[in-house]
Amino acid sequence: MDSDITYLGKIIRVDSSTVEVEVSEDIPSAAPIINGRLYKIGQIGTFVKIPIGNITTYGIVSSVSNTPGKPEDNQARQIFGSRYLSVQLVGEKIGDDDFEKGIGTYPTINDEVHLVVEKDLFDIYGEKNAGSIEIGKHSSSDNLSVYVDIHKLILRHCAILGSTGSGKSNTTVSILKSILTDYDGSRVILVDPHGEYSAAFPDSQVFKIGDKKNPLYIPFWLMNFDELAYFLVGASPKDDQKIDYRLLRELITKYKKENHKLKSGNVTPEFITADSPIPFSARKLWYEMNWWLNASFESTKKDEQKRKTKFETKKGDYEKLIGAEFTSHSTTANNLPPHVTQHKEYYSYEKKLLSRLRDSRFDFMFHSGDYKDEKSSKDLHDLLNDWIGSNSKLAILDLSGVPFEVLDITIGLITRFVYDSMFWGRNETYTGKNRPILLAYEEAHSYLNKNDNNSYSKSAVERVFKEGRKFGVGALVISQRPSEISETILAQIGTLIALRLTNTGDQSIVKSSAPDNLNSLIDLLPSLRIGEAVVVGESIKIPSRIRVKLNNPRPTSEDPKLVEAWSEKHVVSKGNYKSVVTKIREQKI
Ligand SMILES: Nc1ncnc2c1ncn2[C@@H]1O[C@H](COP(=O)(O)OP(=O)(O)OP(=O)(O)O)[C@@H](O)[C@H]1O
Ligand SMILES: [Mg+2]
Repeated sequence: MDSDITYLGKIIRVDSSTVEVEVSEDIPSAAPIINGRLYKIGQIGTFVKIPIGNITTYGIVSSVSNTPGKPEDNQARQIFGSRYLSVQLVGEKIGDDDFEKGIGTYPTINDEVHLVVEKDLFDIYGEKNAGSIEIGKHSSSDNLSVYVDIHKLILRHCAILGSTGSGKSNTTVSILKSILTDYDGSRVILVDPHGEYSAAFPDSQVFKIGDKKNPLYIPFWLMNFDELAYFLVGASPKDDQKIDYRLLRELITKYKKENHKLKSGNVTPEFITADSPIPFSARKLWYEMNWWLNASFESTKKDEQKRKTKFETKKGDYEKLIGAEFTSHSTTANNLPPHVTQHKEYYSYEKKLLSRLRDSRFDFMFHSGDYKDEKSSKDLHDLLNDWIGSNSKLAILDLSGVPFEVLDITIGLITRFVYDSMFWGRNETYTGKNRPILLAYEEAHSYLNKNDNNSYSKSAVERVFKEGRKFGVGALVISQRPSEISETILAQIGTLIALRLTNTGDQSIVKSSAPDNLNSLIDLLPSLRIGEAVVVGESIKIPSRIRVKLNNPRPTSEDPKLVEAWSEKHVVSKGNYKSVVTKIREQKI
């Protein structure tokens, strides 16, 4: 067999899943041509095979040297003139069975090692089948499609990581397109903080703040109480012991209980808490706080509970944010009983809530169109039907208009709401386990940051990564800074698609979180070309270096046209910047 044209050499050392190969000196060329293709011996990241009876074991070349053994042993055992390859074993093929990851029978000293030719690769990757999608072509061959197991890719979660400009968005488009084309019942929500994907998916449903046809609404009342307290009045659970925090909880619970008759179906009031996603009017909440703050009461010494207000002179209008008016407080007037006021505690909350309600940037949460409050025509089942129940398999949530300080809570709400709908709908025929969903998060490092302990989105997304599989929720994170991403998320990634990555901190994070222990392939990351990726993990048969094609239409990254802009001479005008300043003041584009 060593006359075989694919013959490389013999094993001289076996060390758990790494073997060392001495390349035969009789090989006529370091770059043999087999069936018209050129193969280079000893290329890092290429495959070799070790046939033992009817079992063929496959491995990846991880290092090449002209001295055998581990680097620390080299001085003692220097032999020159030969070539030595370190090979990491990855899987085996028994007879005509499919290739399987993992090693059952280990090779031993003097076993023959052969080059892997194109036909072997076709045998490994196999044909496309019902459970797979194509993610790209093998780097060594344009004819060789690389497939991944769609079930494992989605439900064991995945990540696309790479430096800026390495081709992450393009890879995301490729993968989503494969899914949407091959699977008629698939559904995907893509969280798109920069609004770049709608151009690449003309058939998708795009929801965007302020859009005439498909505006994005995230009703603020989807929040639980702690989130409401933070968002509406800037309070945190640390204030739990304070009277104002408790009063706020009581007020909100009261409103929610009042609104138990709902379009999606009535809810038993006893089951409603301050955390329930029940519509209520934030304007009414403000009006009531304002009322308690300004109202004056007759002081009755006997029974404080029976105080009556007699001093309201004019009703306000909560929709217009106009408070009620009262006669001025007087504790000294001779012919009137003394007045007292209650609930001074609301002072700071009332002011903060008023400024939130007046801030037009939050209109997508407060004036949420048909989802505004309890009187609105639509309820949450309509929102779910829009996002995940329509004919469009892909919903893009374009968050480019979301103010930075509420991006975190917005993504948290979206994730939790979709997750809850899958959890509570787990046994329905049309959702939950019976129709899984993929949630894709672009620019994940900016809101799933490992150092942010108060991140709502991070805790919601971590829950998807930890428990989503059981209820049919899979996740994909896309990021240029893996070292900033939550460790819980990285630890749960089943398939890693790593593009060029230059930062060493990021590389070591990828190395340590790569599902297969294949450092040799991960070491290639800084030298990958644009659009080239290393794919490792549960969904791929064998860790592979792939090429992703450039898609058309493409996502827009909308770089300003700097050269054209700077080439034109600037025309000075005193009127410039007026409208810019107004926009800064109104926070409205
Ligand atoms: N597979 C590919 N083949 C050829 N060119 C590519 C490929 N993928 C991406 N490019 C080129 O690289 C550019 C950047 O790609 P892309 O926007 O996908 O990168 P990115 O990693 O998402 O960057 P960012 O971190 O800035 O979002 C594209 O505009 C395209 O011109
Ligand atoms: Mg991108």
